[in-house]
Amino acid sequence: MEGRPPPPNVWALRPLFDMMDDGYLLCEGSDRPIYANASALTLVPDDSDPLCALLALLPPDSCAVAQRDGSWSGDLNLDDGRIFQVRFYFRAGEGMGMSVVTFRDVSDGYVRQKELERRNGQLRQTLVSLAGTQEQLLRSGQMASIGQLAAGVAHEINNPIGYVHSNLGSLQEYLHSLFHLIEAYERALRAPDPLAMLPELEDIRKRCDFDFIRVDLPQLMAESRQGIERVTQIVRNLKEFSYAGRDQSWRSADLHAGLESTINIVWNELKYKVNLERHYGKLPPVQCRLSELNQVFMNMLLNASQAIVERGTITISTGVEGNEVWVQFQDTGSGMSDEVLTNIFDPFFTTKPVGSGTGLGLSISYGIVKSHKGRIDVRSTPGIGSCFRITLPSRQPEPAAT
Ligand SMILES: Nc1ncnc2c1ncn2[C@@H]1O[C@H](COP(=O)(O)OP(=O)(O)OP(=O)(O)O)[C@@H](O)[C@H]1O
Ligand SMILES: [Mg+2]
Repeated sequence: MEGRPPPPNVWALRPLFDMMDDGYLLCEGSDRPIYANASALTLVPDDSDPLCALLALLPPDSCAVAQRDGSWSGDLNLDDGRIFQVRFYFRAGEGMGMSVVTFRDVSDGYVRQKELERRNGQLRQTLVSLAGTQEQLLRSGQMASIGQLAAGVAHEINNPIGYVHSNLGSLQEYLHSLFHLIEAYERALRAPDPLAMLPELEDIRKRCDFDFIRVDLPQLMAESRQGIERVTQIVRNLKEFSYAGRDQSWRSADLHAGLESTINIVWNELKYKVNLERHYGKLPPVQCRLSELNQVFMNMLLNASQAIVERGTITISTGVEGNEVWVQFQDTGSGMSDEVLTNIFDPFFTTKPVGSGTGLGLSISYGIVKSHKGRIDVRSTPGIGSCFRITLPSRQPEPAAT
């Protein structure tokens, strides 16, 4: 007879089945086992009726489900710790039909998956605690900046208060002399011959230094008024600097005003060695959280000033490019090597002596600029100086509708 060769005798294939890693159990119908390969037989004890014992491992309803739906699948956990993925296939046909049950050892995968799940859980916990730590860091970074700021502000306020105080001392002396002089004039007016008193009055006037007081007193008053105004301005700047910290919403703000109040706050740190240049462009109002940006500006100014050893220049420039604005801080300080440059945004990275830098300034600044959907670009040449450019969108994207 020509045509296809006859199908091989299925039983003749048993050696092949026995080579397979997966276990196979063949049944007539769904519950009369007729053959199991070597791998399947490892699931049951030697001394049992192995085929029936294999079938007995399956849940009671598995046969019925396979008969109804064509297949059933589930996991099988053996007492010895092995885990099998079981699939039960049923095919209706002549007579009772046929079934094949396959057993796949997934113990390794299962253990790995359990291990992965455990690690995943650990990672999730670490993530939560990291988020908490980050928040604490941010707060401690802010505390550090606030400490630095408070020291600077205290100095700035102390200075005018110092000379207003000393001026008040001089004014008290002047008032004392003036009252003394007025009393002498009063006495003279009440005397029978006031003109006879003139030489004495002249003498008192000289001793009181009346001519000097007349010139100096208005100057002292003007100087003191200036001092008080300076203190008022610092307090106003301080309020402006920190106000929006309590307000997390976006507001249109004038970045130049933010820069100026920040400069005033850190001026004490800069004034002895920094020549500050401003190249301000025309900026539109920028939607931002200004107190946060002020903190970035402060970190930039402090870093630039700290990079300047004796005297140097910090140039602050601003400008617009399309829908973005930029603020740039360029200094003639020490500059940075490539190695330092690659690490500067890492939390706690600092090249400053222990106790003088926390290494948080730039990482906090980076976070703030990122939350504004902006970026920080840095260029630096050792021995020449550094340039930090902050670019921000002038408007923040609308929050997604909920
Ligand atoms: N303008 C700059 N010129 C030179 N090096 C800089 C400049 N800005 C930053 N750096 C380098 O980057 C490092 C990290 O800066 P960052 O502001 O994060 O921390 P810090 O200034 O060391 O400490 P902190 O800001 O907490 O006082 C600095 O230690 C310094 O080496
Ligand atoms: Mg810093």
